[in-house]
Amino acid sequence: MTARILVVDDDRAHMTMLVAMLGSWGYEVDTADDGAMAVARVRERAYDVVLTDVRMAEVDGIEALRRIKSYNPYLPVLIMTAYSSVDVAVQALKAGALDYLHKPLDFEELRLGLARALEQGMAHRSAQAPSGEADPVSEMIGDSLPMRELAAMIRAVAPSEASVLILGESGTGKELVAKALHEGSPRKARQLVTVNCAALAENLLESELFGHEKGAYTGAQRQRDGRFVQADGGTLFLDEIGEMAPALQAKLLRALQQGEVQRLGSDRSIRVDVRVLAATNRDLEAEVRDGGFREDLYYRLNVIALRVPALRERPEDIPLLARHFLHRFAQRNRKTYRGFTPRVMDLMLHYDWPGNVRELENVVERAVILSPGEFVTENDLPANMRGAEKPVNGPAVGLSLEDAEREAIARTLEQVGNNKSEAARVLGVTRVTLRNKMKKFGLDS
Ligand SMILES: Nc1ncnc2c1ncn2[C@@H]1O[C@H](COP(=O)(O)OP(=O)(O)OP(=O)(O)O)[C@@H](O)[C@H]1O
Ligand SMILES: [Mg+2]
Repeated sequence: MTARILVVDDDRAHMTMLVAMLGSWGYEVDTADDGAMAVARVRERAYDVVLTDVRMAEVDGIEALRRIKSYNPYLPVLIMTAYSSVDVAVQALKAGALDYLHKPLDFEELRLGLARALEQGMAHRSAQAPSGEADPVSEMIGDSLPMRELAAMIRAVAPSEASVLILGESGTGKELVAKALHEGSPRKARQLVTVNCAALAENLLESELFGHEKGAYTGAQRQRDGRFVQADGGTLFLDEIGEMAPALQAKLLRALQQGEVQRLGSDRSIRVDVRVLAATNRDLEAEVRDGGFREDLYYRLNVIALRVPALRERPEDIPLLARHFLHRFAQRNRKTYRGFTPRVMDLMLHYDWPGNVRELENVVERAVILSPGEFVTENDLPANMRGAEKPVNGPAVGLSLEDAEREAIARTLEQVGNNKSEAARVLGVTRVTLRNKMKKFGLDS
């Protein structure tokens, strides 16, 4: 069956060229020279893909896109836009465009874009009813306004092909956002491949991304595919992209532009179809200004920027998150809790959480390990979060002997990095005694 494409463009010359090109690739082509006509065409005939310009007189491309999408949400729409109008591209993606192509058009990009759009349309038609689809952001806890806004953005942007740059301080949940974007996309059937750009030296990172031939460098004992190839058809998540060395940034850009990679030591190109997500806790825009990060790569990655708010900007989420983590760690440690004392909740609400959600998660986990259960109390919080009036060392006066013993053991274990022989030595008991007491106090998990 020949795929039927509707081309919408008010530039006659450009339109003629497109019709010829698409015809030569074997597509059946209809045309419309403004947005209103495009909407009318879509209502009278079934198309597989719509390819539309955005800047048009009368009804513009975005408005036409909205009307087409409300008429048929499953019809893939590709838009064409000048390289400089990133804003327009973002608007279009939010309005439901599948992807956008830069003008002047790169024909290879166009051919691939159309093939992908057709595949997606087909997948939708044969897909199971959308009834039981899980919400991709369901794992992200948070009911504050900034988190609700973020969730809405994720839902809107996830199904598109757009590159997304995820910004936010350390521990805010950037990786979780990347997962949600992948889960909410048609690519979820394939892999989400994560590469931490800060974890490897430049040459190793290069080989990690692109793969290598046997003997490409000392230690390359056999041929290996890179992460790009592994992510083919899926999503590649470049974490800590701000740490990437300039020479590698150039190679990454080339791979993204051409949609192909070469193994180190090979001159054969391998086509890859990946959607790229990137994250950083750095101010990448400032680094672009200072010359530390390539501007062209920045624009390539930053089609859409999602900023994950710091925890201190959304204190309403602290109780929700704290309870969520308490429940999780209690289960894992087979303990039962009723919650946090009001004093603890107050301290948590007033703390500024430089390590964000990850720090909160760690604080709760530590409390679950230290506290005997029922309620998490102030004593179970790390010293820097506790009120100043209490002595930091030694059990407080008035503790039961048992609580004092438990506290001494917990603190000692913490101080010696959980080394049980060392803790037993410090406490002056045998390892067997220590083990028994840890078991009794629930400190052994
Ligand atoms: N909204 C949330 N709901 C539930 N858990 C969360 C949320 N945000 C973050 N977390 C948890 O907090 C921890 C840190 O999150 P994550 O690793 O995504 O942060 P990050 O922004 O990638 O940090 P870094 O910049 O240090 O890599 C993870 O264990 C994650 O599951
Ligand atoms: Mg991370």
